[in-house]
Amino acid sequence: STPAIHIDPARIIDEVDPRIYSGFTEHMGRCIYGGLYEPDNKHGLIDPKSGFRLDVLDALRELKIPLVRYPGGNFVSSYRWQDGIGPKELRPRRPELAWLSEESNQFGTDEFISWCRTLGTEPFICLNMGTGTLEDALAWVEYCNSSSNTYYANLRRKNGHAEPYAVKYWALGNEVWGPWQVGQMESQDYAKKAFQWAKALKLLDPNINLISCGETGYADWDRVILRKMAPVIDYHSVHIYTVSQGKHEVNVMGPAAAEKALEITRSLIDLAKIEHDLTKELTVCFDEWNVWDPIRAPGEKGAEEHYDLSDALAVAAWLNVFVRKADIVKIACIAQSVNVISPIITSPEGLFKQTTYYPLQLFSNLMRGSSLAVHVTTPSPSTIYTGPTVPTFIHNISQHTPDSAKLTKFVDVSAVLATGINGQEIRVAIVNRSDRDEFEVPILFGPGVLGVKETIKIHEVWSPDLKDGNGFDEEKVKTVHKEEKFSGTYKLKKHSFQSTSSHHGYTS
Ligand code: AHR
Repeated sequence: STPAIHIDPARIIDEVDPRIYSGFTEHMGRCIYGGLYEPDNKHGLIDPKSGFRLDVLDALRELKIPLVRYPGGNFVSSYRWQDGIGPKELRPRRPELAWLSEESNQFGTDEFISWCRTLGTEPFICLNMGTGTLEDALAWVEYCNSSSNTYYANLRRKNGHAEPYAVKYWALGNEVWGPWQVGQMESQDYAKKAFQWAKALKLLDPNINLISCGETGYADWDRVILRKMAPVIDYHSVHIYTVSQGKHEVNVMGPAAAEKALEITRSLIDLAKIEHDLTKELTVCFDEWNVWDPIRAPGEKGAEEHYDLSDALAVAAWLNVFVRKADIVKIACIAQSVNVISPIITSPEGLFKQTTYYPLQLFSNLMRGSSLAVHVTTPSPSTIYTGPTVPTFIHNISQHTPDSAKLTKFVDVSAVLATGINGQEIRVAIVNRSDRDEFEVPILFGPGVLGVKETIKIHEVWSPDLKDGNGFDEEKVKTVHKEEKFSGTYKLKKHSFQSTSSHHGYTS
């Protein structure tokens, strides 16, 4: 049987939280230095006062990024934030232990906040729970948020920033479970320590939101941390990277692991809430996700992935997961935002947008509103994916999700009910993950849809070859915008992504 997409506008999952389109900038490779900050750029690409790359700001602005996480990542676990403030000529250079480089500290907290304000995004800071102490963490929150007549608040004023920064989001460490982490801990040890940190940090600033350090969302670590920390946190963090292992089907099916992970995390959160008799909202902050093969693009060498069409489709499948799971994922940060496993790549002369930039841009601009329940009937058995269990890949450890995460559908869909210029409309994002078959898919609506407009707008990301990518001199993969007569079916080219808009009215 051919696939069909069923959408019922009365079945709202939840509001899509715009923060699922957030970013992440780490002191790693050329993300900060040579990426968003390049004071010695000789090609007129910077604001001379701040040293911020203007072309990078422009490209990121189009992605409408609500939050940016900083300064790591693994980097933060040996970061002394105090080194990165005050007169630049006095800032010490330090050995950097996560990526085995040197940190000049020319870009620090004040520069980051100023960059966020210029971009029009909110800062999200991750605390150092490796070499850092609770005292350092309290001092950082005080420096950023306090309006008192106290030492670190006054230091911020002395550095030229009279008004508090009001940084709302603070994460309690990064991947503390990982053997690569400075200050790795056992789950019980982390839970006890982070619990005490959370109490103290909220005493200093009750308005902050705290994020506990999670693993994949389905690890024993997640269970232990949630069980202890649920009363004192607002979000639980999850990190997953998917890897293609050189195979397109593995690449595009990979995000199914995240969907399964989120279902498990939701249950762990529910359990913890029941145990502590909590009624507050506690959701997932998926603060690192992307396609990344650390063998192809090692972290120590700056992790500059060069993405192709297959990767763009994987990114679209990732974003479909976040829209479908709108009730449990409220924040998600693509890792990362500039140069390092990123949708944009810079050189001193300019930048180019990677293939993955385009689905991200379409989702962030269009897929907002209420997430709608979608049902896709499966394609004929001859096209069903029968490969291995979907693997996720984190730091060279191949992790296998439960069998139920095996995904057999080529047509991957999410939908929202959004408010467009002509009132409410249904928008649909579709990835055809097949590299062989094109489909003509009927779209069937539940009650409440007012009728079908004559024409629909289609925004398509496609290229004849799955291995097509972009570069400084050519852009093979980008969005093509078209308007077509709507005949009741969507035409899906093989290995393509499309999002459609403005075509259906709806009344409740
Ligand atoms: O984003 C690259 C790295 O991947 C981050 O520093 C770390 O948190 C993760 O393992």
